[in-house]
Amino acid sequence: MAREKTVSKKPAGAETAPVEEKTPAAVNVLSEKAAVPAAVEKKAAPAEEKTAGTEKKTTAARKKTAAASKKTAAGKKTTAKRTTAGTKAAPATEEKVAAPVELKAEPVKETAAPVEKKVEPVKEAAAPVEKKAEPVKEAAIPVEVKAEPAKEAVAPVEVKAEPAKEAVAAPAEGKNETGKKKTASAEKTASGAKKAGTSGKKRASAKKAEPEEKKDEPVVTVEETAPVEESAPVNEVSNLPRRSIAFIGSECHPFVKTGGLGDVMYALPRELARLNCDVRVILPRYACIPKEYQDKMVYRGEFYMDLGKTGRNYYVGIMEYIWDGVVYDFIDNQEFFTSGNPYTNLVDDIPKYCFFSKAALAALNYMNWIPDIVHCHDWQAALVPVYLRTLFRDTPVGRAKSILTIHNLRFQGVYNIPTIQYWSGLPREVFGMGALQQNWVDANMLKGGLAYADRITTVSGTYAGEIQTSEYGEGLEDHLRYHSGKLRGIVNGIDYGMWNPETDPALAENYGLGNVLDHKMANKLALQKELGLEENTDKFVIGLVSRLTDQKGLDLVNAIVPQILDGNTQMVVLGTGDKRYEDAFRFYEDAYKGTFSACIQYDEARAHRIYAGADALLVPSRFEPCGLTQLNAMHYGTLPIVRETGGLKDTVEPYNEFTGDGNGFTFDRYDAGLLLGAINRAKTLYFDNRYHWDEVVQRDMDKDVSWELSARQYKDLYLELTQW
Ligand code: ADP
Ligand code: GLC
Repeated sequence: MAREKTVSKKPAGAETAPVEEKTPAAVNVLSEKAAVPAAVEKKAAPAEEKTAGTEKKTTAARKKTAAASKKTAAGKKTTAKRTTAGTKAAPATEEKVAAPVELKAEPVKETAAPVEKKVEPVKEAAAPVEKKAEPVKEAAIPVEVKAEPAKEAVAPVEVKAEPAKEAVAAPAEGKNETGKKKTASAEKTASGAKKAGTSGKKRASAKKAEPEEKKDEPVVTVEETAPVEESAPVNEVSNLPRRSIAFIGSECHPFVKTGGLGDVMYALPRELARLNCDVRVILPRYACIPKEYQDKMVYRGEFYMDLGKTGRNYYVGIMEYIWDGVVYDFIDNQEFFTSGNPYTNLVDDIPKYCFFSKAALAALNYMNWIPDIVHCHDWQAALVPVYLRTLFRDTPVGRAKSILTIHNLRFQGVYNIPTIQYWSGLPREVFGMGALQQNWVDANMLKGGLAYADRITTVSGTYAGEIQTSEYGEGLEDHLRYHSGKLRGIVNGIDYGMWNPETDPALAENYGLGNVLDHKMANKLALQKELGLEENTDKFVIGLVSRLTDQKGLDLVNAIVPQILDGNTQMVVLGTGDKRYEDAFRFYEDAYKGTFSACIQYDEARAHRIYAGADALLVPSRFEPCGLTQLNAMHYGTLPIVRETGGLKDTVEPYNEFTGDGNGFTFDRYDAGLLLGAINRAKTLYFDNRYHWDEVVQRDMDKDVSWELSARQYKDLYLELTQW
């Protein structure tokens, strides 16, 4: 897909280098259309792909009643808004220069095998039920603003870099850097993992940082800070030892989301809050965050921070929003975050996320909220562990442990060394082959973070193994193998409050495990009507909700659409991304009117209706670190058809026609014929053996795809790193 390419903020003399970048799949924001900032020149952009992995597999076809829909939300709380924040944006940028973005298009191969199908008319025509989605509302409660002692506006201390030697921190066990004593005892979790329990010694929120005087950091602070009122965590809090965690990442539902990272940044902190974690999520305050949320943010403070070799001090505002026990702190700086889309092109994104990573740590110091763990996500926050052990080492936050989670290894934040040195201000030593250096000319931000993090996680067990191979390692396989001792795979879950067919306001008819068979057809009819497809419950409806990039196996789909559409099947595609896929799907919509629907858009509510109204959901990814759409689908009683790779392999057990076990239909090699075979097996079961199909529908709805187990594994990891 075409992308705007701007450029700017380049150090004089730094050459541009080819870089890869994440496809900005439309930003979630109430129909907001990513307004790409003015650019000097445009270029075609992104692409991506690959993967595979292993882990749990549940099954159990029990009938149970409706899936638990714990968690609600309804965050009320907060806020008095202050308009100030943005007003102090640092002065505008310098000149702009374009840098080529490296593309990796993948050849479309494969041919389709002929489809054999058997159609059996299905009767029952549920009437579509009208229902419109109800916007989630939230009452903003004004908060009083009080002046706060404006001391210690701690900004990063310039420190000498740590030797950037090859190896980095082997699991540092049982160290209490603060010198405080805490007891640790081991106990087992349900999953058998180890965790430290304490004899009632809960750690009081981790605010032991001593304000430090920072000289040479021109920190002008002040302004009042609003003591924001905290909403009580929704559920009971566990009796696990308390830990404080700062989540640092580039997107988070419902503020800004382009893919699964946004879902994880939303759901995992909420689940951790229930596991007795004190969680703060630190995000950029993008201009594209809906006004509804901007209005709820409360001004928390501001300071100025230097950045790299720019010779300037940049405004860092902190805007806060507290919601269901999780504190969201938005780093404000209009110079960096004005874009309508979080990701534009690396020329802008490299400076943006250098600034963000450094500002996030400086903000923790400034707020004097020193977490036990700093948990960073993807390349955009990958410099955080590096900063933590260099420029911030001797500041309060320097005592925190760090975890870096890889959501997608395809994106690494690679640019030439001088540019990253210029913007990050990191010492020369970290630019060695053991950390940031990638080759003679380039630095790789993710690679540096992996070297410096105390632990690395990725989002499924299978992907954790795959990324250590040349097929899926994206060039970092050796580096990952070197650090494999601190690498772990923890599969994602979905938030049962956000994804609950019993209460989902987007659906035509709500349903649960107990009545899915009675109500799912109504959702199918409503979906057909909404999309202009033939309204006929006898049709087998296949959905696809995805970023339209090479990662997602869309060349396989493209190759076999005519064979899939056998007269008894309809297809619905929802997604944005590479132009060639958008165009191909538009073509099919035109060629197969009433049978194929291409929704080239980002539409959260429509995605929910597809999960509910389709019979099956395709996820034929070339690689898939975890994948959430197959989890959403299963939870809505829609059977996944997936390639056995990464988290797809770990979460979808193939249907076994002899035993009747399984959750969906799978294929292994990346081959369009095999995908077609899997689709045909699904059709055969659907049309020839509806009784067994319906059993799988109910089994999938009953499957535990919540965050509960996985969040406990993260908590175990936090405890393992902080055994006091
Ligand atoms: P990835 O993060 O690689 O894009 P995931 O499967 O982890 O893939 O997560 C994708 C998330 O984004 C899911 O919540 C899915 O419903 C959502 N999504 C993807 N494309 C769209 C779209 N066009 N409209 C609405 N939601 C979408
Ligand atoms: C990435 C991956 C996806 C994963 C998501 C959340 O975008 O592509 O597989 O589910 O991150 O972890």
